[in-house]
Amino acid sequence: MMQINNLRPLRGEGRKLFIETYGCQMNVGDSEIVLSILQEEGYRYTEEINEADVILINTCSIRDNAEQRIWGRLSEMRRLRRAKPSLVIGVIGCMAERLKEQLIEGEYGVDIVAGPDSYRSLPQLLRKAEEGGKGINVELSREETYADIAPVRLDKNGVTAYIAIMRGCNNYCSYCVVPYTRGIERSRNPQSILREARQLFENGYREVTLLGQNVNSYKFEDVDFADLMAMTAAISPELRVRFATSHPKDLSDKLLDTMAQHHNICRCIHLPAQSGSNVMLAKMNRKYTREWYLERINAIRKRMPDCSITTDIIVGFCDESEDDFRQTVSLMEEVGYEFAYMFKYSERPNTFSARHFADNIDEETKGRRLAEIIELQNELSLRSNQRDVGKEFEILIEGTSRRSEEQVFGRTSQNKVVIIARKEHQKGDYVRVRITSASSATLFGEEIE
Ligand code: SAH
Ligand code: SF4
Ligand code: F3S
Repeated sequence: MMQINNLRPLRGEGRKLFIETYGCQMNVGDSEIVLSILQEEGYRYTEEINEADVILINTCSIRDNAEQRIWGRLSEMRRLRRAKPSLVIGVIGCMAERLKEQLIEGEYGVDIVAGPDSYRSLPQLLRKAEEGGKGINVELSREETYADIAPVRLDKNGVTAYIAIMRGCNNYCSYCVVPYTRGIERSRNPQSILREARQLFENGYREVTLLGQNVNSYKFEDVDFADLMAMTAAISPELRVRFATSHPKDLSDKLLDTMAQHHNICRCIHLPAQSGSNVMLAKMNRKYTREWYLERINAIRKRMPDCSITTDIIVGFCDESEDDFRQTVSLMEEVGYEFAYMFKYSERPNTFSARHFADNIDEETKGRRLAEIIELQNELSLRSNQRDVGKEFEILIEGTSRRSEEQVFGRTSQNKVVIIARKEHQKGDYVRVRITSASSATLFGEEIE
């Protein structure tokens, strides 16, 4: 019999692939890796879901509402499949890893399920599905970093890009599903990271964000995260470098010193606090205290007084008392965050807190607490932005403003959006501006000639 496999025909053969991405930037990066793998196989990317022969949904499990959205999408997909019975539908990413066979067996009956470490097997899984079977691979890996795969950039702004430098997480915060869906922490070879960053710079990109669930614990042989940042910043003074996310317990003085020494490492640190109460922090297994966290904030301010600090907060975690909550409020006031992502606690099956603590703060209390800190944060953001009025910044132009064709927008090193009048600006230009006015979300400025 002829060994078709040995001839390695392109199995995609021009079939059209649509990818929809939910969740964090890691997922966005993974979709770009998936596209790269499947283009090699002959699939062609389409932005038109109705044209697709294959639809992949890259999913998130971080909170229940993230998963509910995806169930809603899957039920819409059933309609598409009724119209086109040959359509292959796959679920990839964190929800695939969490629910495994359930996604194939349930009423939504998808054809393919692939977890975050099994994307290299997508061509085989698709082949199975195209032959009428089901393809599943949810194996997690100790080594996979996809370091050799050049992502196909889906976000085409052409100026800013994310580079995944590590995968997985070993922190096991008690509420969090990520260590289960993404497996153990592993760092990518720095040479492959630098190659990718250099390539982006040569292609006109002017900003890279080094990405991981806990970038501070990056370690590859003798290269730590601060070393990697310094090496990336050395590519060109015209290349801005950012990172996300750092865990407070690992925010080292060495990293802060490195940031302070390089003007092109951006003055912005996302430092999720989660709570201001030591009781909650211990229960969350965050491995730091309020005092430790505030000491790190001081360490940042001492070296970089102009550094913006942003955070993530969870309200309504198990047993959170009114007093615990007030401590979160006071922490936010004390730090004066530039920006915050704020969430109600959502119990995730099989996490430590789901197994050991009761999700005992009622929905109404969670809602009230969330509303209070959202209002507070709006106030803090507005105050921070108003302090910028009259000051000068260098912004990197990213494109046309959503409000008007006559305006362009860029970001400051502190990651704040500034809108200015359009002149001869091109995407990727650095422009010096003075801030003239501010809202809680945006700065308005004028170019300094
Ligand atoms: N690795 C990053 C965060 C990834 S998840 C870090 O540790 O900083 C992004 C945010 O989602 C978390 O910081 C946390 O605030 C929130 N989050 C995670 N699990 C959650 C849950 N079960 N309920 C509500 N919010 C959650
Ligand atoms: Fe989740 Fe904590 Fe890891 Fe962040 S550090 S991904 S919150 S376990
Ligand atoms: Fe969601 Fe997975 Fe990211 S759970 S937040 S997509 S790591």
